[in-house]
This record gives sequence, C-alpha cells and structure tokens, in this order.
Amino acid sequence: MTDPRMRAFRDRVGGLAYGGDYNPEQWDPGVWREDVRLMREAGVDLVSLGVFAWASLEPEPGRYEFGWLDEVMDLLHENGIAVNLATPTAAPPAWLSQRHPEVLPVMADGERFGFGNRLHYDPSSPVYREYAANITTRLAERYSFHPALAMWHISNEYGPTAYNAAASAGFRRWLQRRYGDLATLNEAWTTRFWGQVYTDWDQVEVPGVPRTWMNPSRILDFKRFTSDALLECFVAERDIVRSFRDDIPVVTNFMRFYRHADYWRWAPEEDAAALDIYPDPADPDAHVSAAFQFDLFRSLKGGRPWLLMEQAASAVSQWRLNVVKEPGRMRLGSLQAVSRGADSVMFFQWRAGRGGHERFHSAMLPHSGPDSRTFREVTALGREVGRLAPVAGTTTRAEVAVLFDWNGWWGLEEVWGLPRNDFSYVDTVMRHYRPLWEHHYAVDVVSTRSDLSSYKVLVVPNAYLMDDEGVAAVTEFARGGGTVVMSFFSGVVDACNRVRPDGYPGAFRRLIGAKIDEYWPARPGERFTVDFADGRTATADWWREDIHLEGGTALATYADGLLKGRAAVVANDFGAGRVVYFATLLEQDAFDRVLLGELRAAGVENRFDGLPAHLECAVREDDRHEYLFLLNHDAQASVAVPVDGHGTDLLTGLPASGEVTVPPLGAVVMRRARRV
Ligand code: GLA
Repeated sequence: MTDPRMRAFRDRVGGLAYGGDYNPEQWDPGVWREDVRLMREAGVDLVSLGVFAWASLEPEPGRYEFGWLDEVMDLLHENGIAVNLATPTAAPPAWLSQRHPEVLPVMADGERFGFGNRLHYDPSSPVYREYAANITTRLAERYSFHPALAMWHISNEYGPTAYNAAASAGFRRWLQRRYGDLATLNEAWTTRFWGQVYTDWDQVEVPGVPRTWMNPSRILDFKRFTSDALLECFVAERDIVRSFRDDIPVVTNFMRFYRHADYWRWAPEEDAAALDIYPDPADPDAHVSAAFQFDLFRSLKGGRPWLLMEQAASAVSQWRLNVVKEPGRMRLGSLQAVSRGADSVMFFQWRAGRGGHERFHSAMLPHSGPDSRTFREVTALGREVGRLAPVAGTTTRAEVAVLFDWNGWWGLEEVWGLPRNDFSYVDTVMRHYRPLWEHHYAVDVVSTRSDLSSYKVLVVPNAYLMDDEGVAAVTEFARGGGTVVMSFFSGVVDACNRVRPDGYPGAFRRLIGAKIDEYWPARPGERFTVDFADGRTATADWWREDIHLEGGTALATYADGLLKGRAAVVANDFGAGRVVYFATLLEQDAFDRVLLGELRAAGVENRFDGLPAHLECAVREDDRHEYLFLLNHDAQASVAVPVDGHGTDLLTGLPASGEVTVPPLGAVVMRRARRV
C-alpha cells in the first residue's frame, strides 16, 4: 500500500497521533502557554486547530486577522506539537449570512435555518462556495509551509441537507449528468405513475416535505445528489490546499452511522478515513457498534489505517442524559479503536469550554483542571499511545465481509411505500455483525464495489436496493466459491427503485434457488415456530416470505401458521459456492447458530474460539510482527487467555507468553513474531 502522505505523517508524529480539537480563539492568549505546557505533559503531539474559527480569522469580509493563529502555530511548533489545520467552513460568520441570506440552508419544510447554529450553509450555494474557497486559499497561502503543519482538516462533519433554489439548480445539473435527457429521467423515475411526467428541466425541483406521497426514485436521487454536493465542497477545498503543497494529507471527519453522505464515494478522495465517535457510556452495548464503525473505517480505504479524529474524554453534552465514562472506559475505547486499525487517538476537545452549547462537554483538560481524574487518565493514555508506536501503519486480515451500502440504506429507510416501513438498516446490520464480534472473527466491511476476492464469506443484510453491478458482484462471489449469507427482502429493486421483473427477489432468484410469491410482514405480536432440519426449533417474527423452492433446499420450515411447511431458511449450491437465505427474522440465537455454522463450514479461521464474548480480540500485523489486542469489556472479572509463542506486552514492556491475564476493563497488546 503506497500512501506516501500518510507514511510521512506517521513519521512526523512518531507513530500514533495523540491529541484533540484545540480552540485557542475561545481563550485569552495567557491560557495558550498553559495549554501547551499541559499538552506536553499529556503526550499530545497533534491538535486540530481552528475548526470553527472563521469569524476570528475573517471578522469582516476581506479583513483577515491571522496574527493570533501565527502565534499559536509558532507556539505549538516550538513545543513539538504538530497541527491538523482546519478550514473553518463549517461555521460561516454572521456577516456572510447577513450579506447573502441565500447561503443559509432552507430546510425540507421551507423554513430557513437561521444563523446561530452551526453547519448553516447550503452546500450548493455558489456564494457559500466562493467565500469558502477564499478563506481556504488565504489559509493555504499563509500556512502551507509553516513547520507545524502536518495535516489539513477540511471543514467539519459535512452534513447539511438544503432545499434552496441553488440546491434545485444543482440537483437538475446532477440529474442531467446522470440521465442525459428528460425522457431517460422520466423512465428512471417511472413518472407515468400519478402523471408526474416532466416536460421541462425547470419543472424538476428538490423534494421538500411530502404533502401526500412522493416519487421514491426522486427521493433516492436527491439523497445521492446531496451526498455528492457536499463531496464537491470537500474536493474543492482539498484541491485548493493541494495546489499549494501536495505532500500533506487532507482529511475530513466523518460521523458514526451517518445516513446522509455515502462514505464509500467520499473515502477515495481523502488521504485517510477519519471518524468522530461518541459511544454512549449509558449503553452497555455501545462498544459493539463502535467495533463495527472501526471496521468500516478501516475498510473504507481498503484496509488502510484510519484516524480516530474525535471522541469524548468522559461525558458529552448533546444527549438528554450525559453520563460519564467510568474510570478505564476511555482508555479501553481508545485501544479498541487502535486494535481495529486507528492510527490516532484524538478527542473533542483539548480544553473544556466555559460557555456555549458544549460547556459541559468533557475535554482532555476538564473544568476541574489538571488535578482531575480525566486529566490523569488522559496523561496515562498519552504515555501508552506513545508505547504503541510500532502498531502505526499495520493492517488487519479478514476472511468475512459484511456489506454496508448507503444506497441500500436509503432504499430501505428514506422512502415510504414498502411492505413495512419500519426497517432499521443499522439494526439489521448490527444483528448480523454482533455474532461475528462476539466470536472474535476479524471482519471487513464492504461496498458493492469492493474487491471481494479475498473473502470466504459475504454477509448481506436486507439488501433491498442494489444496482446491477452490485448484483453481479454478489452473484460472482458465490459462483466463484464464496459463501453468501443473505437476509430477507434483498435484491428487490434496481438502482432506480423499480421492482426487478420476473418475481421476487428479481436480482437473486437463481442465487438463492427460490422464488418468493409474496412478502408477508408479520402482524404486531405475531410469532412463528420454525423447525430446523436437524431437529431444533426456534421462534421468528416480524417478517415472512411465501417462498417456493427452485433448486434450493429448506434448512428450516415454518411449523405453524398459513405458511406451515414452507421454507424459512433456504440453502442453495450456486456455482462453486453456497448461499444461505433467511426469509424471516429468526430469534438471535438461532440466527447466530446458522451464521456461525456457515463460517465454520467455509473454513474461516477463528483463533479465539472459546474466549468469552466480552474479551474483544483483534490483530494488526506487518511483515514481521503481529499485534494481538485483548480488551476486557467486563468491569468485574479478569480473563486468563492462553497465548502461543513469546511476545511482549507493549503497554507494560513486560514479556508475555503462556497465559496472560487481562484485568477488568483492562487491555494487553502483545507483540510477537508474525505467524504465517
Ligand atoms: C462533533 C463535532 C464537535 C463537537 C462534538 C461533540 O463530533 O465535530 O465539534 O460538537 O461533536 O461531541
């Protein structure tokens, strides 16, 4: 993997980066010196600077105040702290919306989103883009060759969806590029239905709040367009900073399970995928969905290390109830990210703010100052992150892949009119991922465009909408000898949200070896009994399919109800491979048993079989070494883990062999010679 910019970055920070968002513009200069002293004490070597500083950098149009930033950049550099310099374009100044109210986004209901929040811009606005380009250019002119500069952080958590006139104009241009002419658009959107035929491009507008029901293909294309419009903003700023200097990595920070931007399309445009994640300490399962996110972020750029750009040192302030991270949890969550490929441990934020919406959001340096639990934990973690330097740049091998696809997500959740309209894509994905996590399988997350050739098993959760290339990729994977595990209501519509012809599931009828006559969503409270061929029984609910085998065999059938005797789980040999199709929502244990059985049958390696689920195991490796991460999520009991070979626990520097003990909420990172 050649990524010279990220390699240079790793060299620059000497391994894993450690630090957080730094907002010196919110503080008197007197505080900056104390900040830098304490940053050094905490082992900070990178700060994300100026994320929301546009109003401080350009207080009036065309009048710039860079003096404070010069001073901060110099101070950080003198103290050996590198800078991830942000373009401040997520927070346009008040003067911009006063001068050009059209930059403020209009929401779906037609209301303008006023100044005084953040992300108050319409990404399609040419005026916004012009001003954003200008401040980006000024920053790049001034700081591209500043010795502190190590990375560019473009904007922040790209996200607004806008319904302005500029968005409609942009949407039309986007549609013209996609479909060429109106006849093709009308066909793609099935506009003969309800007489929605367009005869002039100017009739096509962004879909606001549906007053009755809206064309689902239009909604789908609007999701795609919005993601692309935001991406254009990123690319424009990236290209500006690159035009000054092209050896510095350029990234932006993504969010956890963020539905409105297709990160598969974004990731190739960045030097590294970067994630902001705030697992809720009140949710006992938060670390499982965090693990999925970490696997996704490693996978977004084909297995390359990613950046943990923001997390909380303790509590956040954006939810109704914001509980603290108990002692040890922040460390464990940070090591968990590193175990799954992160090359940084960064926080929002360095110093807790005194005012503003986030005044109770935790920080590396809390309101109670350095003599505090959080700062002590932050400082201890900083030392450990330093010891993990050899892990930087290493990768992970997986033989199982889980499909996670934004188009499929939009198809399932953004448009009404399905047999049931309460699908949660995230829930279904997590239902498939959880058993893999609990049994310590290394998992990659894939898109319909990923190279699938290195996997033995491909898991496809409720893939209702898939384009022809995706269908071909899944089909070829099975034909070539892979095992596909697929859940109900998959392969139903094409990329334009049109039902595929010749019976359900049009895309996968041959693949699963069965035809579905009708989808039978369950009535509230309805439950079914399912008999497995091996004599076991299980319950199912929520969904059934009136399925007719066409070459496939029933692994399980309904024992009751009107579909009694019909298949609930189908297995089919396809080409050199195998397909297992779940036509109902099985109780989790029974689902896990089938899924894990398929993994074993496919010969997927499991080095950690038998270890308790709460002992998370993950491996990173390079040519010579592997780094075994053992993370105990249980707060009560230690876990003794037999390990083969001799190694060193990087966290303690002590030898590790035979059996290692992982204390409650503790971790071991064992380095040893690589197994081949
Ligand atoms: C996001 C933002 C930060 C901050 C945090 C709070 O990740 O990027 O600016 O608001 O949330 O958790």
